[in-house]
Amino acid sequence: ALEGTPSVRRLTAWDPAELESRASEYGTPLYVLDLDRISENAQRLASAFPDAEILYAVKANALKDVLETLHGEGIGLECASAGELTRALDASDDGAAVHYTAVNPPAHDLDQVVEAWEAYPELTITAGSEDTIDRLADRGYDGRLCLRVNPGIGAGHHEKVQTGAAAKFGVPAERAVDVLADAAERSFDVVGIHAHVGSGVSSDQLDAHREFVSRMGEIARSVTEAVGDLEFVDVGGGFGVPYREDEQPLDLEAVANATREALGDVNAQLTIEPGRYLVADAGVLLTEINTVKAARDTTVVGVDAGMTTLLRPAMYDAYHPIRNLTAAREADSSDAERGREQIPQTIAGPICESGDVFATDRTLPASERGDVIAIGNAGAYGYEMANQYNSRPRPASVVTEDGTVRLARRRETIDDVTRVERER
Ligand code: LLP
Repeated sequence: ALEGTPSVRRLTAWDPAELESRASEYGTPLYVLDLDRISENAQRLASAFPDAEILYAVKANALKDVLETLHGEGIGLECASAGELTRALDASDDGAAVHYTAVNPPAHDLDQVVEAWEAYPELTITAGSEDTIDRLADRGYDGRLCLRVNPGIGAGHHEKVQTGAAAKFGVPAERAVDVLADAAERSFDVVGIHAHVGSGVSSDQLDAHREFVSRMGEIARSVTEAVGDLEFVDVGGGFGVPYREDEQPLDLEAVANATREALGDVNAQLTIEPGRYLVADAGVLLTEINTVKAARDTTVVGVDAGMTTLLRPAMYDAYHPIRNLTAAREADSSDAERGREQIPQTIAGPICESGDVFATDRTLPASERGDVIAIGNAGAYGYEMANQYNSRPRPASVVTEDGTVRLARRRETIDDVTRVERER
């Protein structure tokens, strides 16, 4: 059921006993990432978009193993910072595969990116303002330039991740021709236009997707006419994945057809840059229950992961599937003598904020101290958004590949957290 299907892996596809043993071997909280699943996701996407260039939005999960796996699948790497660019070049050693998307880029980022371009002259820089173009010119950059436009159309799973209409991103679409004509005159190698509508776009937002892509097609045609041929039109990422058990996965073929149709007759390559779609369902977060208490109106289950480990529920009220692995293993084992009662429970972390809650009144098998639970679909924007609030070290990550398991990133220690103060 895992391979080939366009359906997104449900949390139940992971073997509970196996995950539990990862938790006891490597400790919790622990991210587990299945590289084979990432390859499957990449192949499924590539077959739906056979004529598109696919870039992976590194921000979703920047682990080296992930970048290597995706580069191995022929997928390029879209970077949002000098740090991501460093990782992408490290993992791929392939400038042609790497795009850097500048969003109000700090000087230090531009310095580093231009330095990287000297070593990898085939990399592409996407600028979202005329200031960025000037600042690149100031640094002697005259390489491949793409312009991020603001199409004025947004979509996505939450207001905070709708980018297409957010003023901070891109040059207003109606200015694209002027800005690119000017850039071409200044001897930049103008190669494309770019925009990203938002993140977590679901099937029922297909109309917004269509409208967005068709706007990109119009812009591309007027740029081609006024400035010259474009190599590509990058319509960003945003392909949603189901997080709730009853949500349907995207119909990729339908999205691909709608994209091609909406783009229309454009003499340039279609480029897409998904993050979440490639990695979300390849990751789970394992966490151990340390507290079970009867609160006034609910049962509170305290776990050792918190909003510092997985921020999405606190930041976007995001829903993640949750499974009690210990209870599932007991139920699976043939000699199980007890089934646990299903009761509503509130799963909360160790951080001193009332928003540090993964789920409220979620119906799950009655928890017991020491149980290991898995939080599903944690492969995208999980570790990447982890932080050290409350002086909490970030968790470890392990990857699985071809039946083998290895530590990909060790757990931080309190010593890691305080090092930058001592070694200043
Ligand atoms: N391209 C650009 C320029 C982007 O800004 C993003 C995401 C992507 C591609 C990839 O979007 P995706 O395919 O992953 O939806 N932290 C939020 C998501 C923020 C996405 C920001 N930009 C979350 O956890 O939902």
